[in-house]
Amino acid sequence: MKYPSKLLYPLDIDPRNSEFAGPYEIGYEHLFQLFPNLDHQFVPLEVGAMIENGGISHLELTILAVLTRWLQPKRILEIGTFHGWTSHNLALQLDDDAQLVTINLPDGQRPRLNSDAWNARYFPVSEPQLLFEGHATANRIIQIKADTANLNANDFSDKFDLIFIDGSHSFAYVENDTQLALSIANEKAIILWHDYGKPAHWAGVTEYLHRSSREGKLWPLYWLHYTDLQTSLVLYIRGLKFSNISMLPPQP
Ligand SMILES: C[S@@+](CC[C@H](N)C(=O)[O-])C[C@H]1O[C@@H](n2cnc3c(N)ncnc32)[C@H](O)[C@@H]1O
Repeated sequence: MKYPSKLLYPLDIDPRNSEFAGPYEIGYEHLFQLFPNLDHQFVPLEVGAMIENGGISHLELTILAVLTRWLQPKRILEIGTFHGWTSHNLALQLDDDAQLVTINLPDGQRPRLNSDAWNARYFPVSEPQLLFEGHATANRIIQIKADTANLNANDFSDKFDLIFIDGSHSFAYVENDTQLALSIANEKAIILWHDYGKPAHWAGVTEYLHRSSREGKLWPLYWLHYTDLQTSLVLYIRGLKFSNISMLPPQP
């Protein structure tokens, strides 16, 4: 797998970041500094005119697909399959020997941890049609039907290079899913969360990432949300540290 060679220091992104320690807003130019030549990375996508409510936006799907092509991960984990838009399109970018594991709550099952009303709209009631069924990508996708609160590192045979967290968006689940992700991510791995910055509906994502970042547990986090790069994706590059000791997260 390819991997970024440097982080972006928050004050180099914007000097006004000195009083902030949550996910730092970055735009295309910053993303291309982290992942050189990402702007020359072309990807095939299979999408319709609309991705239904509950999925991600076209832009977010493109960014995830481009990152996947750039990284060339051997193992991807997605938490929250829904109808498989992202699973299918990320698997399209993978080599034949690579694998995408995607987890979803079993049909009709209620989550064990607190999961608020907005999330309940997306609990599966009947067997959903998965976009990748009948496609070649299905050979590279494994779906696990489980409540993520009931999973731990022992349930996975290998670690992951790229993890996309998009299951239940309650605080309890974002915390649970992030801890699960960190326990099964490679030492050098990329982790992304969806639906940051939408506190009216998905307060759990925003609050958890904000808090973890401020406490220095996940720092720095980058929010792909500056000028034209309007997404709700937050990026964490695990395993890279600033070489200069003064470049530490602000103390809470
Ligand atoms: C926002 S959708 C995922 C969208 C999908 N990642 C995409 O890009 O199209 C959230 C999914 O997480 C699933 N989910 C919710 N709570 C869960 C839990 N506790 N464990 C596993 N999956 C869960 C829901 O059933 C739903 O399908």
